[in-house]
Amino acid sequence: MSYASVLNTYEDFVKAFHPKSGLDLKFYKQNQMQRRILSFMNSHGHSSYGPFLTALSADPTLYDAFFKHLTINVSQFFRDAAQWKTLRETILPLLLQNKTPLKLWSAGCSGGQEPYSLAMTMMDYFSTAKFTVLGSDIDVNVLKQAKDGLYKQNDFASTPPEVLQKYFTLIDNGYQIKDSVKRQVSFQHQNLLTDRFQSGYDFIACRNVVIYFTDEAKEILYKKFTDSLRPGGILFTGSTEHLFGMNQLGLKSISSFFYQKQ
Ligand SMILES: C[S@@+](CC[C@H](N)C(=O)[O-])C[C@H]1O[C@@H](n2cnc3c(N)ncnc32)[C@H](O)[C@@H]1O
Repeated sequence: MSYASVLNTYEDFVKAFHPKSGLDLKFYKQNQMQRRILSFMNSHGHSSYGPFLTALSADPTLYDAFFKHLTINVSQFFRDAAQWKTLRETILPLLLQNKTPLKLWSAGCSGGQEPYSLAMTMMDYFSTAKFTVLGSDIDVNVLKQAKDGLYKQNDFASTPPEVLQKYFTLIDNGYQIKDSVKRQVSFQHQNLLTDRFQSGYDFIACRNVVIYFTDEAKEILYKKFTDSLRPGGILFTGSTEHLFGMNQLGLKSISSFFYQKQ
């Protein structure tokens, strides 16, 4: 399909890209997204939206690289170590007082580093507790990595060496997560902004996902998360993400970046 002459503005691009990708860029901050799109276009020799979209339609490799560039899937096991300490010393014991099995969800899970970190934490520190972990993401390529469970050295910058040794096998081109951890986690393709959520979660981690969302999109998303937590359930946000308006949502801050549903 040729978009060559009809797409001139950012708004035109957003409208044409949505049905093709399922990603509605109107929920993302225009300044940042436009800058990211233009930098990708320039580095691939494109200066206008129409021919660029035509090229995306014709070249699946280019499309995948662009989608990856837009969704920004940098992650790490046990990213922000201090918060994982709070999680295992305070938050999980609190949740386990109320109910077992625990229903845990990493929303915007990238290549699986975060949901697998949740599973390993449960296995190491709460070995008798029953739990399920869901990882979900909009990007099918990162979900493939998550399901394959293959990682590189730089995924482990915040990982204690004994955890790496216990739960991963060193192979030629990296580290393979062991089946004992893989079995604990399921993955799902999901657009957080438009898809329906299950309910009854004890714990939802949504970290470093909403950075580029508009305030309106964040408001919609945090309301959806609150609805899908059980009373007493906890939302875990990223280090730069403070939840304004949490009282109206019915959430209370119980530690930095952890919010409990009342
Ligand atoms: C920077 S990564 C964060 C990974 C992990 N939560 C962490 O903190 O290390 C952001 C992830 O959010 C996903 N994402 C962005 N928009 C999304 C949406 N609307 N629905 C679901 N996932 C989305 C991206 O594909 C990406 O994998």
